[in-house]
Amino acid sequence: MKLLLPALLLALGVHAVKHEDFKECGQTSFCRRLRPLSTKSESADFASPYSLGTPSLASASQIGAPTKDSAWTFPLSSTLYPEVAFELRVDVLEGDIARVRVDEVGSASPWRRYNETARWSLLSSEPAHGTAKISTQNGMSSIKYGHGLELRINHAPLRIAMVRDGTEEIVFNDRGLFHMEHFRTKEMPVEEEVKETEGEQVKTEEGEAQTEEVEIKSEPEEQEPFEAVIDRSWFETEDGDMFEEQWKRWRDSKPKGPEAFSLDISFPLAKHVFGLPEHASPLSLPDTIGEGSHYTEPYRLWNVDIFEYVADSPMALYGAVPLLHAHSTKGTVGVLNLVASETWVDVAHTNGVQTHWISESGIMDLLLLPGPNPTALFEQYASLTGPAQMPPQFATAYHQCRWNYNTQGEVIEVQERFEEADMPLDVTWLDIEYADEHRYFDWNKKMFPDPVAMINQVAKFGRKMVAIVDPHIKRTDSFRVYKDSLDLDILIKKADNNNFDGWCWPGSSVWVDFFNPKSWEWWTRMFSFETWADQTKDLFVWNDMNEPSVFDGPEITMPKDNIHDGGWEHRDVHNINGMLFHNQTQHAITVREPTKKRPFVLSRAFFAGSQRFGSVWTGDNLGTWEHMAGEAAMFLSNSIAGISFVGADIGGFFGNPGNEMLVRWYQKGAFMPFMRAHAHIDTKRREPYLFEEPIRSYLRDALRLRYILLPAWYNAFHDAATKGHPVIWPQYAKYPSDETGAAVDNQYYVGDSGLLFRPVVDEGATSADVYLAAGQPFYDYFSPRMWPARSKPRNVTIDTPLDKFPLLIEGGHIFPSRERVRRSSSLMRLDPVTFTVALGHNQEAKGQLYMDDGETFAWESGAFIHRALEFKNGKLSSTQKVPHNAKNEYAQSIQDVGVERVRVLGLNQEPTSVSVSGKEVQFVWDKGAPSAKEPRAAVLTIKNPGVKVVNDWEIVIA
Ligand SMILES: *[C@@H]1O[C@H](CO)[C@@H](O)[C@H](O)[C@H]1NC(C)=O
Ligand SMILES: *[C@@H]1O[C@H](CO)[C@@H](O)[C@H](O)[C@H]1NC(C)=O
Ligand SMILES: *[C@@H]1O[C@H](CO)[C@@H](O)[C@H](O)[C@H]1NC(C)=O
Repeated sequence: MKLLLPALLLALGVHAVKHEDFKECGQTSFCRRLRPLSTKSESADFASPYSLGTPSLASASQIGAPTKDSAWTFPLSSTLYPEVAFELRVDVLEGDIARVRVDEVGSASPWRRYNETARWSLLSSEPAHGTAKISTQNGMSSIKYGHGLELRINHAPLRIAMVRDGTEEIVFNDRGLFHMEHFRTKEMPVEEEVKETEGEQVKTEEGEAQTEEVEIKSEPEEQEPFEAVIDRSWFETEDGDMFEEQWKRWRDSKPKGPEAFSLDISFPLAKHVFGLPEHASPLSLPDTIGEGSHYTEPYRLWNVDIFEYVADSPMALYGAVPLLHAHSTKGTVGVLNLVASETWVDVAHTNGVQTHWISESGIMDLLLLPGPNPTALFEQYASLTGPAQMPPQFATAYHQCRWNYNTQGEVIEVQERFEEADMPLDVTWLDIEYADEHRYFDWNKKMFPDPVAMINQVAKFGRKMVAIVDPHIKRTDSFRVYKDSLDLDILIKKADNNNFDGWCWPGSSVWVDFFNPKSWEWWTRMFSFETWADQTKDLFVWNDMNEPSVFDGPEITMPKDNIHDGGWEHRDVHNINGMLFHNQTQHAITVREPTKKRPFVLSRAFFAGSQRFGSVWTGDNLGTWEHMAGEAAMFLSNSIAGISFVGADIGGFFGNPGNEMLVRWYQKGAFMPFMRAHAHIDTKRREPYLFEEPIRSYLRDALRLRYILLPAWYNAFHDAATKGHPVIWPQYAKYPSDETGAAVDNQYYVGDSGLLFRPVVDEGATSADVYLAAGQPFYDYFSPRMWPARSKPRNVTIDTPLDKFPLLIEGGHIFPSRERVRRSSSLMRLDPVTFTVALGHNQEAKGQLYMDDGETFAWESGAFIHRALEFKNGKLSSTQKVPHNAKNEYAQSIQDVGVERVRVLGLNQEPTSVSVSGKEVQFVWDKGAPSAKEPRAAVLTIKNPGVKVVNDWEIVIA
C-alpha cells in the first residue's frame, strides 16, 4: 500500500491547481438552486414572499438569566410554503450588536437544522444582552438600542434595516433573496408542489390577493397585504440533486434532503467590502456578479487543501471566516453570518454594496456589528469570537522549517550553521518525515535516535522545536493512537455509521471526531510527558491538513454525509472542524507542565474564533512574484477577521526562488506576524546561511530587523490579545475617513508602533511607491529622509536597491526596539531597550512598552510591565499605563533593564540641554534639513539616559 503513495502524490500534482478538483457554484446543487434568484428578482414587482407575525418577548429560559427585554421572537412564514413555519428571533447584545436568527420550527420532520456553530465559534453561544426597546405598529416593529441605533423591521415583506441616526446602514432582505428550504421527504415530488404554488400564484397575479389568508401564526390582522410576482421555481429551481448528489466518483447521500438557505445584505453607504477570508483576492473585494465583474464565481467558503492555489481568485482556500466589513468614509459596519456549512457569497457594487450569501445547511445566525469605525468593529468582533491568544515570545520570532529535516544530525547542523552565520533563530520545525510511517508522536528512531537529547541541544541556544501532528491517524493496530481512538469509539463515521477511513500521508487513515467531548481528555493525554515520552517542554506543535485533507475524498476532503457527534453531518460542521482540532491540541500543550504554559500551535484550517487557539499560515503558496505580491492582501483580510497571527511560507512552498526573490521574501517575512520559512520536499535547500555575499548579508539584515523590532511586535500581539486589534493594520483601518487610501492593500502598519511597511514584490524593482495619508509627517526607518506632513494624501517613491525596502514611521508614534541581536529572542530578555520617538506635526508622540515573561500566564494576574510613553512640551515621559503590582515577579526580574538610547525624529529646535531628574545627560544633535527638496529629519540621539524600563521617568529636552 505504501507504494501507492508516491503515485498518489504525483496525481495530486506538484503543478498548478487543478481547477477540476474543486467545484464551481454550478456544480453544487444548492448553489445552482439558489444563486439565480438574484438575477430573477431584479424584476420591478418582485418582493420577498416571507413575512413576519407579531413579536413576543423571548422567554427567560431562551435568553438565559438574568433576562432583559432585549430578545424577541417573530413567527415567520412564506407564501411559497404556507404550511411551513419558521421563527425569526432578534437579540440585542452588549456592545450594540444585533443578532437575527431564523430556524424552521414545529416541523414533523425528524431532522433539525444545525444550530451549534455559535457554540464553537463564539466565546458564549448566548452572549450577554444589552438593553433595547421595541414598539410595533402598522406592520412594522422598531427596536431602539445603543447610541442612536434602531432595527427597523418590516413585517411584510420581511425586511430588516439597521439604522443609525435615521440612515439605513445594513439591510437584511433588501432584495428579497432570503429563502430557507424546509425539510421534506423525497416521496413528496417536487414537481407537484410547484404546480400547486403556481395555482396560488395565479390568484395573486389576478389581484384576488388573499395574502391575508397566508398562514401567519399570530394575529394576521397586523399584516399589511403585499403583492408580488413570484414563482416558487425561482427560489428552488427544480433540481434532481436535492436528495442525493453525484460529483465525479463521489455520491453524497443527503439523507436530510434540501436544507440550504440564502440571504441578501445590502450596505447602502458602502464603497468597499473587506473580509470573507480566506481568498487570494484583493482586500477590497471585487464584484463576482453583474456586467464586467472581476470574477464570475462567488467567493466560496469551504475549507480545502488546495495545492498551488491561483493568485487572484474567489476559490475556497484552507480557512473560512464569514465576516464582512462594509466601509466608506461615512462609517464602517460589519456582519458575521455564523454558518459552518459550504457558503458562497456574491458581491456587487450596486447602490452601495449588495451581497448575496448561499449556505448549504444550518440555521441563519446573523450578527450585525454597528462600528461605526474599524477599531470599534475589531472590538465588537472580539467581544463575540474572542481576542487572539497571547503567543509565547519565541513564536513571534523567526521559524525555520522545511519538508524535511531528515535526521537528528541535520537539525543540529541547522543550529550550528545559523550560529556560524551570525543569524538569529528561535524555532526549528519538523514536517511529517520525523514520524515513523507518518504515525505522529512515534519518531522514526533510525533518523532521530534520541529526540529528547536533540530538543535539549536545540534548547541550549534558547531555541524551541515544532513537530507536526496531523489529524489523520494511520489505520494500523500497532499504533496506540489508532487503537485508543477505536476503543473509545471517537472516530468520525460514514453515513452508514461505520468508522470512516480515507487516504492521507500514512495511507489508510481515520479521523478523530473532536466534536465528541470524549476525545478531549484523551487527546490532552496524548501530549502528556507520561504518554509521549519522546518530547520535552521545548517541543511545540503544528496541526496541518485539518480542513480535513482526505486525498481520496471529494474535493480532497471528507464526504459531506459523514457523521459527527450528536448525529450531525460533516456538511453542517465542515468549516469549524479544523478549529476544534486546533483547540484541543493547544489545550494539551498548555497543560503539559504543572504550571500552565502559553501554547504554540500552528493550524492550516481556521474559522471565526480560531484566533483563540494560535496562529495560521496561508498554506501551499508558490515561489512566484505573483504569489508574493498577493499575500499582503491575504494577511490583511485574515487580520481584520481576527486571524491576525498569520504568515506565508518565506520563499514559497513550491519552487526554487532566485536570490533576488528570496531576499525580497525575507524582507517581507520580517513583517509578517508569523515569520516562517518553509519549502516543499522537492525544492533545493535554501536556509539563509547557504548563500554567498552579498545575499547572505541581506538575508541576515532581514532576520536581524525582525529581532530588533520584537518589542514593537510584542506590543501589537498584546493589543490583539487584550483588545482584539489586529497585529497588522490595513490603510483603511488606520485612516477610515480617507477615501483615496481605502483600497490600498500592498502596505500595512505594525500595531500602534507607527511602522508602515511596504513589501517589494516586483522583479528587478529599483523603487516602490508608498501611499501616505494626509496629516502626519513620515520618517524613513533606515535613513534621515522624511516626508513633511501634507494636507492631502500622496504617493511617494522610495529607492529600493536589493538591501532596502520601504519602512517608514508615521509621525506621532513612539516604538521600542532592542538593538543587540542575539542567537534567539529569549537570550535578549535582559537587554536594554531603545525608544524611537517620531514626532507628529504638533511635536508630540505617544507609544507603549509591554513586556512579560513571554511564556506563562502570569501576565494575566499582573506579572508584566506596561508603560505609557509620551512626548509632549519637550518632555519624554514613561508612566505606568496599566496598573500592575510593581513588585510583581516579572518586574523584579527585569529591574536592571535600562534604556540605552532614545532617538527623537523631527524636533524643530536644537536643544540646549537634555536632563533626567535635573541631571544633564549627553546627546548628539543632527539638525537635518527639514525644508530641503529631499527633506532630512532632525535627529536627536540620547545615549544612556540612565533610566530603567520598570520605573517612572522623565527626560527633559530644553
Ligand atoms: C438547537 O436546537 C435544539 C432543538 O430545537 C435545542 O434544544 C437546542 O437548545 C439548540 N441549541 C443551541 C445551541 O441553540
Ligand atoms: C475548546 O476546548 C474546550 C475544552 O478544552 C471546550 O470547552 C471548548 O468548547 C472548545 N472550543 C472549541 C471551539 O473547540
Ligand atoms: C497612488 O498610486 C496609485 C497606484 O498607482 C493610484 O491609484 C492612486 O490614485 C495614487 N494616489 C494618490 C493620492 O496619488
